[in-house]
Amino acid sequence: MVSYKDLGLVNSRELFKKAINGGYAIPAFNFNNMEQMQAIIQACVETKSPVILQVSSGARKYANQTILRYMAQGGVEYAKELGCQIPIVLHLDHGDTFELCKSCIEYGFSSVMIDGSSKPYDENVELTRKVVEYAHKYDVTVEGELGVLAGVEDDVKAESHTYTRPEEVEDFVSKTGVDSLAISIGTSHGAYKFKPGQKPEIRLDILHEIEKRIPGFPIVLHGSSSVPQDIVAEINHYGGHLKDSIGIPEDQLREAAKSAVCKINIDSDGRLAMTAAIRKVFVEHPEEFDPRKYLGPAREKLKELYKHKIYDVLGSNDKM
Ligand code: G3H
Ligand code: 13P
Ligand code: ZN
Repeated sequence: MVSYKDLGLVNSRELFKKAINGGYAIPAFNFNNMEQMQAIIQACVETKSPVILQVSSGARKYANQTILRYMAQGGVEYAKELGCQIPIVLHLDHGDTFELCKSCIEYGFSSVMIDGSSKPYDENVELTRKVVEYAHKYDVTVEGELGVLAGVEDDVKAESHTYTRPEEVEDFVSKTGVDSLAISIGTSHGAYKFKPGQKPEIRLDILHEIEKRIPGFPIVLHGSSSVPQDIVAEINHYGGHLKDSIGIPEDQLREAAKSAVCKINIDSDGRLAMTAAIRKVFVEHPEEFDPRKYLGPAREKLKELYKHKIYDVLGSNDKM
């Protein structure tokens, strides 16, 4: 067992308190590999933003649990080397079992999500409570979820949103003891969040209703990529085929970040940025076969995307 404290990581408790009081949200960026990790740390150091490094169960299988632990520790040391000791959280994204959450805690995670949102309410409460009980022994923070996002959440596929029911949140939070709550208000995972012709809009009214029921409690938004249309156009220009991909308008996320929403999850936009940069190199320099020649530009584009999110959407710059 390794404690996240020995790796130089922090849990999310203090960060969320400050974010709610300050009217901004902490970026939660997913990573699977070295270039993504470097881009996240560089962007957050340059903007002086705290950050949540997110690892999905798929990412954990892809990268290996031991390597991830050292990568997170490497991220902490890298930030110091760059001259800025930003607060870094290592968080399990969409944990689906108690065993996975426990294992992540044993491998140095400072925060875990237990996603029981697809289960009946009472089962979700029971599972979440069990994870909280274990995690809190090690001062690890826990995110729960109520309501189901449309799209694919790991193996769970929902055709349409089941919005979070504001009347359930108070009961859920008090019965489980969670530290933060992910809600469903119209965001969804991936690059196809709305159908063509549909108004891309999230239900800020439900968010405000939830806030009234649990004032000052940290709220999390998943599925918050904006699917930048210039990046989609670039991918398609260089041979990609992304059709009708639509995300959450950034001004709506900015609005949400001013409220009790203190963690905003962004993964797909980063995937799009990397893909655009790599495709460009492949088309313009077909003679290249050194991975550094295409992963380097991908890392640079990713860093620029993250800095834009921090400055223009989340408002977490200069908040370390
Ligand atoms: O919510 C899902 C995240 O974007 C992670 O995706 O399960 O493909 O790693 P993944
Ligand atoms: P996006 O697919 O919108 O980037 O959402 C990522 C996410 O919610 C990770 O948990
Ligand atoms: Zn998610």
